[in-house]
Amino acid sequence: MRVINLGLIGFGTIGTGMVKVLKERIPFFERELGIKLSLTAICDKDILTRRKVEIDKDILTQDVSRVVDDPQIDIVIELVGGLHPAKEFILRALKNKKHVVTANKALLAECGEEIFKYAEQQGVDVYFEASVGGGIPIIEALREGFVANKIEKIYGIINGTCNYILTQMSDKGCAFRVALKDAQDRGYAEKNPGLDINGIDSAHKIAILSRLCFKQKIPLEKIFIEGIRNISLSDIRYADELGYSIKLLAIAKRTSSNLQIRVHPTLLPKDHLLSNVQGVFNALFVNAALIGQALFFGQGAGQMPTASAVVSDIIFLAEKIQRPLVADNAKKTKIKIKEKPICTIDDIESRYYIRFSALDKPAVLAKVSAILGKYGISIFSVIQKGRRQAHIVPVVIMTHEAKEKNMRKALSEIDMLTVIKNKSVAIRVERV
Ligand code: HSE
Repeated sequence: MRVINLGLIGFGTIGTGMVKVLKERIPFFERELGIKLSLTAICDKDILTRRKVEIDKDILTQDVSRVVDDPQIDIVIELVGGLHPAKEFILRALKNKKHVVTANKALLAECGEEIFKYAEQQGVDVYFEASVGGGIPIIEALREGFVANKIEKIYGIINGTCNYILTQMSDKGCAFRVALKDAQDRGYAEKNPGLDINGIDSAHKIAILSRLCFKQKIPLEKIFIEGIRNISLSDIRYADELGYSIKLLAIAKRTSSNLQIRVHPTLLPKDHLLSNVQGVFNALFVNAALIGQALFFGQGAGQMPTASAVVSDIIFLAEKIQRPLVADNAKKTKIKIKEKPICTIDDIESRYYIRFSALDKPAVLAKVSAILGKYGISIFSVIQKGRRQAHIVPVVIMTHEAKEKNMRKALSEIDMLTVIKNKSVAIRVERV
């Protein structure tokens, strides 16, 4: 049995988790799967801080070439994160014909094409299960399990931080900034939470998933991204009264003529399974003709779930190294030449929840509905709440399907009415 040598770059939380899992499972992999793994080198800037796992000090180094250039090493595991120098480390490992395992969603979303193409040229593979959904094996499911399907839609709650914040706001009735502070105190949100709460992390992940589903390049700049910063407690409450929850959804849809890929807060019926995904959990709802609907649920981050995904990639690659004809991942992840256009947000059609802050006097609703009517937007239901501030009332309207472009024009006209006092709020509604 040939020993498969592993080199790790990045001995942080996930790296430490991966080493723990390997230490525990290496005998099992050898006994049950016939795979003999050896962790040969670990590179990190910090080699002094003690980690909560015992390792042979000789394998610890600050010199990345001991991982990426060592001819003995078969698989390089990149857990550094960020674009640079992670990209350079991966390209150097590929140059030296090493397979790569990475959890780096930002890098794959930004530079995936270059990396996958180079890996293919070099005859090696890049595996990335840990980049989306932590311990949920969604990448493998899309690549292998659903290979007979034409994926039509994916709806994902793929940012635990945002889902935690929205859950807290809804359950505890607290404001966004209070829920964010709580998420930071618990270590779910970063000190600088922009990537999460502005929807960028979800966009990175849906870019990776939609590339796999639709087999084409998904440039990040073609993804519409709106975060959760502007979600107010009152919108969560009104949505609740109307039978909806508000979730940050990452959406990828195939229509007959184009693709829609977007990330934004979304009203979902409360009885939908995704509405019941609470706290830091992640979930992915997949729709395709053969399987109908499938739901994946689990921990989308954290040391051990993510380490579980990394180790599963290592095992796939180790099997491939031992039996090279078995798994040709490159073919399954290859993109098509013929691409469908990715439509802009202006071109989508959706139902909308809209909230106006209106003066409480005669004919206000008539003015608002006249503008909606002018743009072909049909009202489904209206609620007006009691006065809070003097003479200003929230008016909540649910619409039928409308064109986004028309909704934007209507809202900017409505916001210019003298009877409308604050910028109106619009949130897309999905029936899934
Ligand atoms: N920051 C991510 C989240 C976890 O909040 O879900 C890593 O992907």
